[in-house]
Amino acid sequence: MTRDNYQNEVNEGQSDSELRLRKTRKAHHIDLAVQYNEQSQTDAWKDIRFVHHSLPELNEQDIDLTTRVADHTWSVPLYINAMTGGIDEAKVINQNLAEVARKHGLAIAVGSQSAALADTKVVDTYRIVREIMQDGLVLANVSGAVPANEAFRAVEMIQADYLQLHLNFPQEIVMPEGDRNFKGVRANIIEILNDSPVPVIVKEVGFGMSMELYAELAAAGVKVIDVSGRGGTNFAWIESRRRKDQRSVFEDWGQTTPISLLEAQRFMNSIEFLASGGIRTALDMAKALALGAHAVGVAGAVLRVFYKGGKQAVSDTIGTWLHDLRSVMLALGAQSVDDLRTMPIVVTGDSQDWAGARGIN
Ligand code: FNR
Repeated sequence: MTRDNYQNEVNEGQSDSELRLRKTRKAHHIDLAVQYNEQSQTDAWKDIRFVHHSLPELNEQDIDLTTRVADHTWSVPLYINAMTGGIDEAKVINQNLAEVARKHGLAIAVGSQSAALADTKVVDTYRIVREIMQDGLVLANVSGAVPANEAFRAVEMIQADYLQLHLNFPQEIVMPEGDRNFKGVRANIIEILNDSPVPVIVKEVGFGMSMELYAELAAAGVKVIDVSGRGGTNFAWIESRRRKDQRSVFEDWGQTTPISLLEAQRFMNSIEFLASGGIRTALDMAKALALGAHAVGVAGAVLRVFYKGGKQAVSDTIGTWLHDLRSVMLALGAQSVDDLRTMPIVVTGDSQDWAGARGIN
């Protein structure tokens, strides 16, 4: 939704039918993301390989999982990415995931808060995350097209530590009711950056990013980017299945997460990158960190574990991921996340072809 459309909606107030449509859409997104078979996506992480080194010279107890993102210290380099809010089912999800995030020291993002900006009755479906996280790290989430004053209301609503601005334009294009006017978003992001009370993170929703975009965002003053690449939750698939269409032309659109990080190499000193999109194992996490990410986000995989096994299963899975991440770091001799970020890696397959064609080395 562009800034002008958004402002009209806020000024006129949303009709009951629009609010209902939004709620139905949220419930469908959850249903379809739960049904979604990630295995149907090519696993681009197979293209990224570590080089085994037989003398790690490190003791497990010395491994430090802390990382830094825009001047905050995170106790682990893993966060639960933006998913939901605005309906009762979303409140239950947010509550349970926040409980697990709190237990394991993860940061957590709420889903797009536009529902709560339009209808204050649903604010508690997001605020529950702050209540449970207490002083833990919480990320607000709105579209990059939302006017600055509304974006800051979203931050205040949950006393967020960061503000995520999502860019989801292929998803809008696939939705019949989605926006078609994308002018003015860059200027809007600059306005938000200038006055934001908290660090701003520009994020994709699963279509990945390119070096041309990083250059544009760096020039605009963006300091933190979540590449959110292809390989996991696929909103082109979700939106076309929501309407029972056969296929969307966008189902194979965009850059995978490893490719989005390869595209980022030139910007590692000026921008802090976060990696999400198709992260399924601790090895994927380690590879994303080795490609330069400061932390790694997971959305769909956590939701599917929650629907299959409840909160305990999510907690067990995250416990296993963190344990396995330590094991990989131990084998590599990487004592810290910063060490991991400098480990040698080998890029093969499609990712190597892409990097060659784009002049990345
Ligand atoms: C999302 N995602 C998302 N992103 C965002 O910025 N705002 C949002 O409201 C949502 N909503 C949402 C709902 C559901 C059900 C899912 C599964 C995902 C996108 C998410 O944050 C992430 O960028 C992508 O899902 C890619 O990560 P995974 O799912 O492959 O780990």
